[in-house]
Amino acid sequence: MNRESKSRPAMAVHQALAHDSAIKHVTGQAIYIDDILEPRGILHVYVGTSTVAHGRIRHLDLDGVRQFPGVVAVITAADIPGVNDISPMHTLDEELLASSIVHFRGQALFAVAASSRDAARRACKHAKVDIEELPAVLDIETAMAQQAWVDAPHEMKRGDSEAVIAGAQHRLEGELWLGGQDHFYLEGQAALCVPQEDGDMMIFSSSQHPSEVQHLVASALGRPDNAVTVEVRRMGGAFGGKETQAAQWAMLTALVAHHTGRPAKIRLDRDDDMISTGKRHDFRIRYRVGFDSRGRVEGIDLELASRCGMSADLSGPINDRAMFHSDNGYYLPAVRIRSYRCRTHTVSNTAFRGFGGPQGMMGIERVMDAIAAELGLDPLQVRLANLYGGEGRDVTPYYMTVEDNILPEMLDELTRSSDYAQRCEDILSFNQSSTVIKRGIALTPVKFGISFTNTMLNQAGALVHVYKDGSIHLNHGGTEMGQGLFIKVAQVVADAFRVDVGRVKITATTTGKVPNTSATAASSGSDMNAMAALNACRKIVKRLTAFAAEKYAVAKSEIHFDHDEVLIGDLRKPFSELVMEAWQGRVSLSATGFYRTPKIHYDRETARGRPFFYFAYGAAVSEVEIDTLTGEHCLRRVDILHEVGQSLNPAIDMGQIEGGFVQGAGWLTTEELWWDEEGALRTHAPSTYKIPVSSDVPQTFKVEIWKRGKNREATINRSKAVGEPPLMLAISVHSAINQAIASLFPGSCIPPLDAPATPERVLMCIKRMRQSPV
Ligand code: MTE
Ligand code: HPA
Ligand code: MOS
Repeated sequence: MNRESKSRPAMAVHQALAHDSAIKHVTGQAIYIDDILEPRGILHVYVGTSTVAHGRIRHLDLDGVRQFPGVVAVITAADIPGVNDISPMHTLDEELLASSIVHFRGQALFAVAASSRDAARRACKHAKVDIEELPAVLDIETAMAQQAWVDAPHEMKRGDSEAVIAGAQHRLEGELWLGGQDHFYLEGQAALCVPQEDGDMMIFSSSQHPSEVQHLVASALGRPDNAVTVEVRRMGGAFGGKETQAAQWAMLTALVAHHTGRPAKIRLDRDDDMISTGKRHDFRIRYRVGFDSRGRVEGIDLELASRCGMSADLSGPINDRAMFHSDNGYYLPAVRIRSYRCRTHTVSNTAFRGFGGPQGMMGIERVMDAIAAELGLDPLQVRLANLYGGEGRDVTPYYMTVEDNILPEMLDELTRSSDYAQRCEDILSFNQSSTVIKRGIALTPVKFGISFTNTMLNQAGALVHVYKDGSIHLNHGGTEMGQGLFIKVAQVVADAFRVDVGRVKITATTTGKVPNTSATAASSGSDMNAMAALNACRKIVKRLTAFAAEKYAVAKSEIHFDHDEVLIGDLRKPFSELVMEAWQGRVSLSATGFYRTPKIHYDRETARGRPFFYFAYGAAVSEVEIDTLTGEHCLRRVDILHEVGQSLNPAIDMGQIEGGFVQGAGWLTTEELWWDEEGALRTHAPSTYKIPVSSDVPQTFKVEIWKRGKNREATINRSKAVGEPPLMLAISVHSAINQAIASLFPGSCIPPLDAPATPERVLMCIKRMRQSPV
């Protein structure tokens, strides 16, 4: 903190201010891509896609499409002047438009531009597509058998887990299948391209990663990055689905603009969006574990296999993050974690809130429940016995020391505040007297690593202007997707100048103001962009201070910014007045800011280092009720205790915690993706894919921010990231449903409930237990 801020209390930071767009969101005035006034001559783009999962294109006859009334241009792979590739990590393994081989049903083959969206869409149906079908690999098991990977298998290892498991007093092994998840952002993928002079392109995109959209558009056009500007005012939700996968649609509009000289726009409808964009990775997890009679893990072997789809996309880092979270909050003395990244002829899976972390955690949480069932212990006791902490029990499988392990304290507090012990007894007696309806309860912790695991990506920039009337213009590389990043950064900027937050104009993210940014992802948006903005503000404050000191012959230490005013010795003047004087005195009132996360490093070869600046923690207790005749469940009560350090904005953070939990519960209970034997996604609309709605919110929902939270690392105002971690609190729901099933089979092993725990799957699990309960 600068001197001024140290001596004056914060005004805006830590306040529960409303989201800057809250009113606009609910009144329909917030502008999304499809709300931007359409420029004259605009063309609407629709995409023709493959109807086979794997095949060789023999012939693409698009004459009928071209002749359809209203069609202005039809674009194929041959019409791309630059590089035909949308891969985010330079893997060059995913074409924008398929040139010869198609790799999934829904892959883009050609784009049609017409005077109306309806015409473009109808015209597509007149394509004659001749594709020679090739054998398709559609699932994890087939890909594993064929060793079909998008990225080489990877391993983390400490000690000789094999020997330790063999020598342990108790041993268990098991398998768990986890489904994927569609992002179901309310605003689907969308982009608008307005061509500029000299063939430059102005793109309005619904993207978490404007810099990457800029780069990919430029490379498809065969132009340098400086020929393309990408602007993102906001997204109507993203959840990771627009980290890489917004680029393709922006690129198609740019190609149309390039060939026609006219503006072009695309907006995927829900079905097309679900069919043609990647999702959360589904996983198969296998474990073998050796433990002592208290349930403490001594050695463990975890095998993670995920369906990545037809290209790498972000599957490398996502599966790495799954490995990084395979310990969750538990110390695993001898451990081996292997990860297989399966290549399949399905849409390329991508980032989704938690980025592999949720899948990794589900594995170890199942192990905890399995150990408890085996030993006849309360699962909470087993979890507590395994937590990090105590002599020599604080190093992760990737050799990072857990420095601020607050989980024991948090779990203790949540156990008491949720009345866990009493409720366990109540549930036991309820289940004894109730034959059809059964209840279950589970308390699970979350420990989530904050930082991009690729160290390079942990950098951010900002641009701050103070205009001569004292109003402030704020810009940074982060994007707003509803998570409240913009208001948080504005609060930090307001405090840096000690002015009212209303003075700070929040502006759209644009590659023209802050270049070379990282995606707004890994929950690090506010950690990094607020720091970069603060860095810019301090430069301006420093110049203003130096100017005032000289003009009024006062020591710099006698100058304080305070409540929209500046104290200069005994003089007190409005902030705006000093700004005007500084301008007249020819002082620069604009500055860029930069931040790079300190302390982090990681060597992937040896799988050792400190990939995360810090961990964010939380815990949840969920109580469910299941109907053992229908398989349905309801969430009776959920208690959450979540840590956000010193909250930058408790109102926003509460929204993230509640929303994250509900989204996680959707993933684990109702949201089911189903592909048929031909590789066609058959759940591609809300009629067949059930996301949580308001009636799915727990009947009693008690959410608390951990009051003693304070980041021991020097993050912005000692806050912690909040975007992703709360999603994983919902693991308690899945575990509680499994406990309810287990109550039907006292003394048995843990039921093999997979995810999502749909009514069908709950019934199948009960049936399997009835057939072989041990
Ligand atoms: N909250 C809302 N309302 N909408 C979103 O799309 N995305 C989540 C999370 N919370 C998302 C959200 C994901 S995946 C991430 S990584 C973070 O927000 C990104 O923003 P942050 O880094 O500013 O927290
Ligand atoms: N988290 C989220 N997004 C990412 C990451 C990560 O660790 N790495 C690359 N993109
Ligand atoms: Mo979030 S999955 O890191 O975009």
